[in-house]
Amino acid sequence: MAGRVEGKVALVTGAASGLGKAAARMLAREGARVVVTDRNEAGAKEVAGTMGEAARAYKLDVTQEADWVRVVDDTLATFGRLDVVVNNAGIGVAKDIESISLEEWRVVHAVNLDGVFLGCKHAIRGMRQCGAKGSIINISSVAGLVGVENLPAYCSSKGGVRLLSKSVALHCARKGYGIRCNSVHPTFIETPMVDGLASMMGGMEAGKARLARMIPLGHIGEPDDIAYAVLYLASDESKLMTGSEFVVDGGTTAM
Ligand SMILES: NC(=O)c1ccc[n+]([C@@H]2O[C@H](COP(=O)([O-])OP(=O)(O)OC[C@H]3O[C@@H](n4cnc5c(N)ncnc54)[C@H](O)[C@@H]3O)[C@@H](O)[C@H]2O)c1
Repeated sequence: MAGRVEGKVALVTGAASGLGKAAARMLAREGARVVVTDRNEAGAKEVAGTMGEAARAYKLDVTQEADWVRVVDDTLATFGRLDVVVNNAGIGVAKDIESISLEEWRVVHAVNLDGVFLGCKHAIRGMRQCGAKGSIINISSVAGLVGVENLPAYCSSKGGVRLLSKSVALHCARKGYGIRCNSVHPTFIETPMVDGLASMMGGMEAGKARLARMIPLGHIGEPDDIAYAVLYLASDESKLMTGSEFVVDGGTTAM
């Protein structure tokens, strides 16, 4: 039986760890050739190394436009197409509005919002160049839908990703490109990012228990919970979805 994204070429950012790694592996398992990228080149190579001939690893710092140009051009030269871009790389600084510095604010926005802006721009360029009816998938957060008191820069950048995605979706639809763009909004998922957050909340285990209590379903998610959403948006099964918010949050924002 053919995989759900058979024949597609997918580029994933921040794919050396956590959600990006899980999404890259899921897309490869379902038949895509995957461009595994991260600013951590060794990590990207390690992940791609487990995926055989279907994967290539690249160093891509999402804040650097020259990296985007190089990697998208090389992907087209190597694979002949680009169908899916998952703008996943992201960082957080857990400091409230009175504590966070302007420099920290700017670094978070550079990665989480400028990086997604560049990712959308170069995804459209690459997809149009090869005539792909592509899918751009931007990883936002529940913190792009509701406020969190000690994550002002993270919330601002992830809220920005939500509306940037809608603007990109409408532009591509009105131009008739056949390129779709959606945002994904995970709750807390078991990754190194959440380990960091939990350890600042009274120790790793106690912190994770506190995070779990914020989720009506009562537990933190697994990376594959989000990878399945990415897979659906990457596949033609979601061909009517664009400009939408895919919330995968165990009920967190239903309250
Ligand atoms: N884990 C969660 O609970 C959760 C919840 C909601 C949203 N998210 C979002 O999901 C995405 C992935 O998070 P994660 O939990 O897997 O984090 P993670 O820290 O495990 O992995 C993030 C990856 O991004 C890479 N990265 C960081 N800055 C980069 C840059 N400038 N260019 C390229 N790569 C860069 C890191 O090297 C790392 O490999 C992020 O956008 C995050 O905000 C995570």
